[in-house]
Amino acid sequence: MNKPTRTMRPYHPVRLHFPAVISLVATLILVFACTSRKPEAVTEAEPAPVETVHIVKGDPPATSELALLMREMTVFTDSTGKRLASGKDLLPYPEQFKTLKTAEATPGMVEHRTFDPFAHAWLNKLDALYTASASEKTGVFNAMVQTCAACHGQMCPGPLVRIKKLTIPED
Ligand code: HEC
Repeated sequence: MNKPTRTMRPYHPVRLHFPAVISLVATLILVFACTSRKPEAVTEAEPAPVETVHIVKGDPPATSELALLMREMTVFTDSTGKRLASGKDLLPYPEQFKTLKTAEATPGMVEHRTFDPFAHAWLNKLDALYTASASEKTGVFNAMVQTCAACHGQMCPGPLVRIKKLTIPED
């Protein structure tokens, strides 16, 4: 009984970090979805990959082929950045990303005249990452992330915040 509880204070539900809750919900909506989606559909804000590259299935429910590929690209890029920052080797070359230009998108999401040149540029950056010398890899990696952001600046801006966090410090 050395800490008497304060029963005097009235209960104020609005004081429960209301702004924090709002910004959390807003972040969850923005993290993955291009368009607003119910926040409960985005339960997994940060994929936590370590070594493997895999398609995130199930929750949120599977969307288009391209959306799944994008999630896989996000996981891959996150892992790769962490590996480079800690001086580790690259993951095996992700052949599956070659389908970037043909993967079926959510209807109405992709205008191929705009999408294709960015997709082409991104695949070139991916190749450059694998051919760059060790000292160039960090710079090429960040240029690859910039290309993600460049395409997303044209369409599907929702993931931009997440994408910008993928860059790694250059020295
Ligand atoms: C050529 C353009 C382009 C490039 C490059 C690109 N994206 Fe996307 N991204 C899209 C489009 C279009 C969608 C929407 C796909 C759909 O809904 O079918 C999308 C969707 C996403 C999503 C949402 C997936 C979901 O579950 O709804 C994430 C996250 C994402 N991209 C991250 C990235 C990251 C990270 C990179 C780089 C490693 C990247 N994107 C490169 C065009 C691009």
